Amino acid sequence: MKPVSVGLLGLGTVGCGTLNVLARNADEIRRRAGRSIEVRRAVARDLKRRRAADLSGIALSDNPDDVVNDAGIDVVVELFGGLDPAHGLILRAIDNGKHVVTANKALIADYGQEIFEAAQRRGVMVAFEAAVAGGIPIVKAVREGLSGNRIDRLVGIINGTTNFILTQIRDKQRSFADALAEAQLLGYAEADPAFDVNGIDAAHKLTIIAATAFGIPLQFGNVHIEGLADMDSRDVLYAGELDCRIKHLAIAKRTRGGIELRVHPTLIRGDSMLANVEGVMNAVMVDGDAAGPTLYYGAGAGAEPTASAVVADLIDVVRALTSDPENRVPHLAFQPGALSDVPVLDIGDVVTAYYLRLQVKDEPGVLAAITRVLGDLNISIEAVMQKETSGDGKPVPLVLMTYPVRERDMNEAVDRIRALDSVDDKVVRIRVEPLHGEACGERA
Ligand code: HSE
Repeated sequence: MKPVSVGLLGLGTVGCGTLNVLARNADEIRRRAGRSIEVRRAVARDLKRRRAADLSGIALSDNPDDVVNDAGIDVVVELFGGLDPAHGLILRAIDNGKHVVTANKALIADYGQEIFEAAQRRGVMVAFEAAVAGGIPIVKAVREGLSGNRIDRLVGIINGTTNFILTQIRDKQRSFADALAEAQLLGYAEADPAFDVNGIDAAHKLTIIAATAFGIPLQFGNVHIEGLADMDSRDVLYAGELDCRIKHLAIAKRTRGGIELRVHPTLIRGDSMLANVEGVMNAVMVDGDAAGPTLYYGAGAGAEPTASAVVADLIDVVRALTSDPENRVPHLAFQPGALSDVPVLDIGDVVTAYYLRLQVKDEPGVLAAITRVLGDLNISIEAVMQKETSGDGKPVPLVLMTYPVRERDMNEAVDRIRALDSVDDKVVRIRVEPLHGEACGERA
């Protein structure tokens, strides 16, 4: 059968990784796909740069039009990243009848609906496995492998940079800035690392995976996002003393009132599997009503892990080329006309347990005043840990773990606690997520 012709937009880390995987595994890929997959054209902004891939036989250009307008190209692989010019180029490629494979999480999270509708109209496919968690086939697992389940919860470490930073702070006592600089050096971080640190990257990925898990529209704007920017290494250490770890988690959860979509630093029990996902690795735990909890672990970034997802999408596209568009696997797992309008909960309505760290004057009555505030709002305390006094009259850290509380009540409690004379203004609060029925700190 005639080979499938591919045009590559982007010859950076993932572009070169994709070329290398396609070349190295060409025989197996052809045997799986039923046809050869050949990259005919590639576009890069700077054609003079040395590349870590063999470019022989590929027509190179610095003009993306050469790919999206070439009638001989069957599939466009978009690896530019970012919204512009990728958005316009993908729509044009679709308009020109080309299938699209993309690793662009921001684009799918923000414009997926528009892109999928255009693809639907034109009868072409858009595949985006590489947009979420690099080498972990999580989109495929949720969309196809678990399609018999009602998915109730998804909890993931889906940003390698923040996981790397937290691991370095805990294991090597490095500063936040140092750890971030190394993550940038190692190529884990986004072009703008603020996307990693502020939680935007994880929120893009959560938007996509939650849509496929729950059959809801893509809605990045409804994700509650907190990053790591304010992380204090003391809390990482205190969490350890409570047999817990702090991880930057992306959580999507079905509750009676609606869906929770949130990305934030979270305390989890130290002996849970997610707590032991270290460095740049990613992992996603999915709770299905039939399968129970399943866990997917692997490299969330990097040239060949991400290329693994790009190539798998290419093979899927090639396999499906002859199938009737109506009978292909839907982009977001559920048929486009059958999406649910279940609301995403306001963060104020979310119920979680809390880790609180206060700086308090070491004097009689302080703890009583704090517990009175919490008691008045019906917030139960699970554990209290008072750190050593320095003896010099300076405030001392007081760590409290609460039982689950509605966020709105916790906001009120924190406001009242901050107003106490004996408590410093800055109150650190970190949500706790029970992963296996037991909450963090229950044994502390
Ligand atoms: N900056 C991302 C991360 C790369 O750290 O996970 C993969 O999306």
